[in-house]
Amino acid sequence: MRAPKNNIPTILVAFGATGDLMRVKVVPALFHLYTKGELPAMFKVVGFSRRPWGDEEFRNHVREIISVHTTELFDSGKIDAFVGMFSFQRGDFDEKESYRELKKTFDRLDAEWGVCANKLFYLAIAPEFYTTVAGHVAKSGLSEPCGIDGGWTRIVVEKPFGENGKAARKIDGGLAKLFKEEQIYRIDHYLAKEMLQNILTFRFSNNLFEIPWGNKLIEKIEIKLLESIGVEKRGAFYDATGTLRDVGQNHFLQILALLTMDHPGSFDGKKIRKMRAKILSAIKLPTLADIKNTSIRGQYEGFREIAGVRPDSGTETYFKVQARVLTPRWKGVPIIMEGGKRLGEPLKEIVVTFKHPQPCLCPARQPHHKNGVIIRMEPKEEILIEFWSKKPGVTSETEQRTFHFRLRERAIIAQYTEEYEKLLLDCIRGDQTLFISTEEIRLMWRFIDPIVAAWKKNAVPLKMYKPDTKDILTSNL
Ligand code: BG6
Repeated sequence: MRAPKNNIPTILVAFGATGDLMRVKVVPALFHLYTKGELPAMFKVVGFSRRPWGDEEFRNHVREIISVHTTELFDSGKIDAFVGMFSFQRGDFDEKESYRELKKTFDRLDAEWGVCANKLFYLAIAPEFYTTVAGHVAKSGLSEPCGIDGGWTRIVVEKPFGENGKAARKIDGGLAKLFKEEQIYRIDHYLAKEMLQNILTFRFSNNLFEIPWGNKLIEKIEIKLLESIGVEKRGAFYDATGTLRDVGQNHFLQILALLTMDHPGSFDGKKIRKMRAKILSAIKLPTLADIKNTSIRGQYEGFREIAGVRPDSGTETYFKVQARVLTPRWKGVPIIMEGGKRLGEPLKEIVVTFKHPQPCLCPARQPHHKNGVIIRMEPKEEILIEFWSKKPGVTSETEQRTFHFRLRERAIIAQYTEEYEKLLLDCIRGDQTLFISTEEIRLMWRFIDPIVAAWKKNAVPLKMYKPDTKDILTSNL
C-alpha cells in the first residue's frame, strides 16, 4: 500500500540546481504539486551547484522560473511559501567538504522537524558525473538512514543512459555498487504520459482489444514521433547523439514494450517492469542485412550550420527502423518506428493496423477493409478506431468510419509539467513503475548498438530532407 502522500518528510537535493532540467521540468512540476497540496507537509529542496550563490539568489532564480512557467495568478504569500522551501549549497561535485556541509543541513532539518527525513538525490547533471556524485553521497554518510525505521535514500537519474550499451553498463555498474536497484529511479518521461499509461488500461481492461492483440489479427504496428522543433541550442549534444539514441533507445522502445508486453498480473511496479524487460529481450537483434533493408536515416538541410554541429556531420535527425518481436504472439508483425526533427506539424501516435478479414463481405472494387486503432499523443490525446460501415442507401457500398475518444477537451497542459509531477511524486512515494530498470537499459541498447555501428560505417545512406516538410516520410522500408 502507498504511504499517505502528505506524510513523507522529504529533502530533495538537486545537483545541477541552476541548470535547464531544473528550470524547465523540475521546479515547474514541484510548484504545480505544491499548489495542489500534493507535496509532503515537511518538504525542502536543497539546490547544489558550483555557482557562488546563497539562499537568496537561488530563491530569486526559483521565483523567476515560476513567473515564466505559470500562467495562473497566485497570491504572493503562496509563492513566498513555496520559494521558502528552497535553500542553496554551493559546492563542487568532487569536493568532500561540500557533502559535509550538506550533511549539516540534513541534521539541522531533521532536528527542526523532529524526524529522520527521507532524502531524494536528483542528479540533474551530465551522466559522466553520476558516479562521482553518487560515490560522495554514499561515502559521506548522506545516504545512511538516520532513524530506526525512517529515512530512505533514493537517487534519480535522467537519460541519456550512456552513449552505448558499454557506457550504460559502466554508469549502471557504478551506481549499483553504491545503491540498490530499489533506490535508483531512471527517468523516461514518456512513461509518465497519460496516453502511454493508458495503453495498459486500454489493452488489459478491454477484452475487445486485448483478445485480438497479436499476430493472428494484427498486420503491423507503427510508432511515430514526428516533431516540428529542430535541434536549436542543443547542437553539440545532438550531433554526438542523433535521433535514434536521443529518442529511439528510450521512448520508442518503451512504447514498443507497452504495446507488446504480456499481462503483468497486477499493477505492481516490479511485475510491470519485469514484463517490459521480458518483451524487450524478445526483440530480434538486427543483422547487417536487416539494417540495410529495414532502416532509413535522414538529416534536415541546415542541420550542419547549427552551432556545435560538425560541418560534415553524418548524424541523423530522422530515422525509420523496423523491429521484430520473436514471440509466438508477435512473430511476423513488423513494428515500424519513425521519428525526427523539423518534420512539419507535430504528430506523435501509434497506429495498429489489423489484417484484412478473410473471407470478407466486401463489395467488389471497394478499398481495403482493414481496421485501425490509433493512439495519439499529439496534437491531441485521443484514440481513434477505424471501422467499416454500410453506406446508407440502396447499394451495399461500404465506407470507413471512425470511433473517436478524446482524453480531455482542453489542450495539453505545459510541456513536461504533468509528466514530472507524476514522476516526482512517485519518487517520493517509492513507486518505480514509471522508471526504467537496469535490465531494460541493457536490453534497449542491445537493439540500438548494432544499428548505430552500421550507420556509422555508412551501411545505409544518409538522405537529406527539407526542414518543415514531411517529404522524407514517403521513403519506404
Ligand atoms: C527528449 C529528447 O527525451 O524527448 C528531445 O531529448 C525530444 O529531443 C523530446 O524533443 C520529446 O519529448 P516530448 O514529450 O516533447 O514528446
